[in-house]
Amino acid sequence: MIVCSCTMITSRDIAEAVSALRTADPFVVLTPGLVYRQLGKRPSCGSCLPLITKLMVAYDEEGLSGASGGTRRPVEEA
Ligand code: FES
Repeated sequence: MIVCSCTMITSRDIAEAVSALRTADPFVVLTPGLVYRQLGKRPSCGSCLPLITKLMVAYDEEGLSGASGGTRRPVEEA
């Protein structure tokens, strides 16, 4: 699912970025800006930031398995 239409970031990209950030530093404070930086992109309009924040928290709690739709709880649309 495309989450950010400005930079074409997908939900899978966010899950992988969260995993990479957690692996590099288990105590990192995750922010949408950090996820963008991990992906080598910058937000443009910012309208996706609330959804990116929700996905980031969900994937951080449930790991990459949450990205495949397994037992992940649904994330409310922004
Ligand atoms: S939709 Fe993500 S920055 Fe515009």
